[in-house]
Amino acid sequence: MTYRSMPKVELHTHLEGCAPPSFIRGLAKEKSIDISGVFNKDGTYAYRGFDHFLQVYEAACTTLQGPQDFYRLVKAVLQESASHGVVYQETFLSPDFCGGGDLAAWRDYLAAMDAAATEAEAEFGITLKGIVTCIRHFGPDAAKPAAICAAETFGDFITGFGMAGGEMVGRPNDYAYAFDMAREAGMPLTCHAGEWGGPDMVADTIRDLKVQRIGHGVNAIRDPQLVAQIADAGIVLEVCPGSNVFLKATGDWADHPILKLRDAGVKVTVSTDDPPFFGMTMTDEFDMLAATFGWGADDFNALNQIALDGAFCDASTRVKIA
Ligand code: ADE
Ligand code: ZN
Repeated sequence: MTYRSMPKVELHTHLEGCAPPSFIRGLAKEKSIDISGVFNKDGTYAYRGFDHFLQVYEAACTTLQGPQDFYRLVKAVLQESASHGVVYQETFLSPDFCGGGDLAAWRDYLAAMDAAATEAEAEFGITLKGIVTCIRHFGPDAAKPAAICAAETFGDFITGFGMAGGEMVGRPNDYAYAFDMAREAGMPLTCHAGEWGGPDMVADTIRDLKVQRIGHGVNAIRDPQLVAQIADAGIVLEVCPGSNVFLKATGDWADHPILKLRDAGVKVTVSTDDPPFFGMTMTDEFDMLAATFGWGADDFNALNQIALDGAFCDASTRVKIA
């Protein structure tokens, strides 16, 4: 039994982290860039632990050098996602990797990605929206131009603002200026927290950055009061079980907190994060949840509905997807 053909709504992916290894190898060859440390002998991404994962991720990103590369990336990623039943996907886009935070350059990259997404929608039947993302370990000063890029391009394709990267760098409040700027522009917000940090990091993120969604959030499970607060506030968790198990942010599938979080009334959703880095797809996520917890079509329909309700797109897109 596989849930491959079931329609799926996915809220948490990193565009560069969705790049198939063969795509990055192809770009490296075209441009004669040496990225030999990035791959294992069998062609998969090579890294040891989360910090090294971030280094390898950034090394792979050096092959993505202009709007046309991102156009091709969006097409390749959406074709793959659609083949796993994904009908709506949100992806983190980082001005840091698209022109280094320069607004004019960012607009060029964005135009290329938006065009690719529009074509992919017609060709593969999948809708993509972008969440502009600052990178936490690049520091609070780099978060500000990312927030300016977000606020200036908020609209049909760019639907939200967020933060990814090394979670243990600084405290959430260090990034409040960027989040305030995006919120004042009317943008909905999400932030990675509780993937590596404890419940305190999740609580501070909610209090100081006033986000509607949390990326991962799984370590909230260690504080029942916080879990109740998240449930009461209706904050959506973008849970990525395959990523957590592979990177060892949590224990194995059987011990994954998604079950207890859901049973405590938290709005959980399921995403792949950086699928080729973990050898995962959305089909695998659904199939593993079915095999581990006995979830079936009703559970997955409920997950999809929560994801759709928590999506950052506008009402007309929501109606189109439903
Ligand atoms: N960037 C790409 N994947 C990430 C993850 N799992 N956590 C934080 N930042 C990321
Ligand atoms: Zn992530």
